[in-house]
Amino acid sequence: MNLSMNLDAVREKFEQSAFDYDGLIPRLIPHYREQHDLILQLIPFETNANIKVLDLGAGTGILSAMILQAFPQANVTAFDMAGNMLKICQTNLSDFRERLTLQQGNFAEDDFGSGYDLVVSGLAIHHLDDAGKHKLFHKLFHSMNAGGILLIRDIVTGATPKLTEQYEKLWRQYMKANGEDDAAWFQNYLKEDIPSSVEEQTKWLAEAGFADAACHWRYLNFAIFGGVIPR
Ligand SMILES: C[S@@+](CC[C@H](N)C(=O)[O-])C[C@H]1O[C@@H](n2cnc3c(N)ncnc32)[C@H](O)[C@@H]1O
Repeated sequence: MNLSMNLDAVREKFEQSAFDYDGLIPRLIPHYREQHDLILQLIPFETNANIKVLDLGAGTGILSAMILQAFPQANVTAFDMAGNMLKICQTNLSDFRERLTLQQGNFAEDDFGSGYDLVVSGLAIHHLDDAGKHKLFHKLFHSMNAGGILLIRDIVTGATPKLTEQYEKLWRQYMKANGEDDAAWFQNYLKEDIPSSVEEQTKWLAEAGFADAACHWRYLNFAIFGGVIPR
């Protein structure tokens, strides 16, 4: 399957799963809600800062909501290719409608604007292959302001195939313990997802120009990482 066919399949999956997403995702992703606290703590701006924020692959708006709540002057663009995810996002974030812009598109190809102080992305960039991630990191670098920060939380591989195998086995145990069909989810993951290691991705971020490109947190095959735009 080439990348654009894969993205079509991914979009279709999220169009269908949008209405169950918020209840389902913590059963599939270890420490899903705890990750939000750390992402918030890693944002270096004062709470009254007038910041322009992009949420790439915003889905139902979980990260956008958290930022709009914590930063009452922030304006957020929630960008996603699945219309149904954006519909739920619009409903979930109706209290923030004046500071929220919804934009449907494919971040690998479409324009997502510029002048951002903060870009967050949750569980979305792993749908691009290595070359696609590399290109996206360059595009992000040029769409952000000096002093801006990029925070990505995503599924990643281990530093070696042996570690990847070990992490994926433990991840399946997590899903199974939550009553999920781990074999079916894992098959789907093997078919559609293209995770890269956090070590490679922080290297690509640095190559794109980001400073302090680093992994801030990891648990098995999940990581929070990013970088900042030098002043
Ligand atoms: C697993 S959901 C993540 C939602 C939310 N960010 C979170 O952290 O829970 C992934 C979202 O990314 C979107 N997505 C994946 N690839 C994308 C792309 N190339 N362009 C735009 N959206 C994309 C999907 O449509 C889906 O809504």
